[in-house]
Amino acid sequence: AKILLLHGPNLNLLGSREPDVYGATTLADINRAAEAQCAERGCELATFQSNSESDLIDRVHQSRTEGVDAIVINPAAFTHTSVALRDAISAVAIPMVEVHLSNVHAREAFRRHSYFSDIAVGVICGFGATSYTLALQAALDHIAAH
Ligand code: DQA
Repeated sequence: AKILLLHGPNLNLLGSREPDVYGATTLADINRAAEAQCAERGCELATFQSNSESDLIDRVHQSRTEGVDAIVINPAAFTHTSVALRDAISAVAIPMVEVHLSNVHAREAFRRHSYFSDIAVGVICGFGATSYTLALQAALDHIAAH
């Protein structure tokens, strides 16, 4: 099986970006742990981060021809703004798990709405880097059950 782990804008700064909100773990740490977790379950992992909406959309389109079985995505700020990225995920019809480091429901009101949650298999938020472990476990279990 194959999982695509997508990271949206500003997540390249993890580790130094508002560490009180997002923690000290870097994106490289998160990707390394994710790769080990997937390998343990015999699953291939591809990771991609971009600050550009268009590059993220193109990467989602590419995942269809690559035979990706599930997408785990932290759309970051695009969570609250991007109909286009949401539509890309609907278009490829690949099961998707939405993940956030912070508890988006306990912050500013504008973070409470997500363009992704209603098309997600499920949503994990609020557990820092552990959110990714939980989201990947959910994606791996979903693939195994379908
Ligand atoms: C985030 C939450 C978003 O509201 C924010 O714009 C981010 C990160 C998170 O992982 O907690 O960039 O997706």
